[in-house]
Amino acid sequence: MNTRTESEELLKEYVENESLRHHCFMVAEAMEHYALLQGKEAEEVEEWWTAGLLHDLDWEKFPDEHPHKAINEILPSYDYPENVLLAIKAHAPERTGKEPESEIERYLFACDELSGFMHAVSLMRPNGFEGMKVKSVKKKLKTLKFAESIPREDIRKGAELIGKSLEDHIHTLIDVFSPK
Ligand SMILES: [Fe+2]
Ligand SMILES: [Fe+2]
Repeated sequence: MNTRTESEELLKEYVENESLRHHCFMVAEAMEHYALLQGKEAEEVEEWWTAGLLHDLDWEKFPDEHPHKAINEILPSYDYPENVLLAIKAHAPERTGKEPESEIERYLFACDELSGFMHAVSLMRPNGFEGMKVKSVKKKLKTLKFAESIPREDIRKGAELIGKSLEDHIHTLIDVFSPK
């Protein structure tokens, strides 16, 4: 499979928007953390990280074709394993008809919208993720006007898909995104 540097180069080629790039790196970080927690071997850890990094590869340039353009045209010309492509396909079931089933697919689905939401929460705080509380993230989730484009239902479904309470999932991601 491609190295991290190669995947990062590919991302830079297709995504110019800084905040979308940042989102991709956040999801990659969350995926890597969960892969390690699940005791995955090094190669699989790389696949989880890569699926996170590239899941929105075509969003900026081909919004109407997302994620089909990436999985059918862009990624196949590089050396990416099938399970990475399937995970990317399953992060947008409403567009692809592919529901998240395998572990990598379920975790990607679970990390995507919640990472985006928590990033929005972090921007409202003077110290970002530092000292963020699960309770305040949950409160923001109930405030439908806040980050209103992020579907709450997908966040709940994600936690369910990885067999965690929403509180645990948020707690884990606060740890992942807090400054080390
Ligand atoms: Fe997406
Ligand atoms: Fe995303």
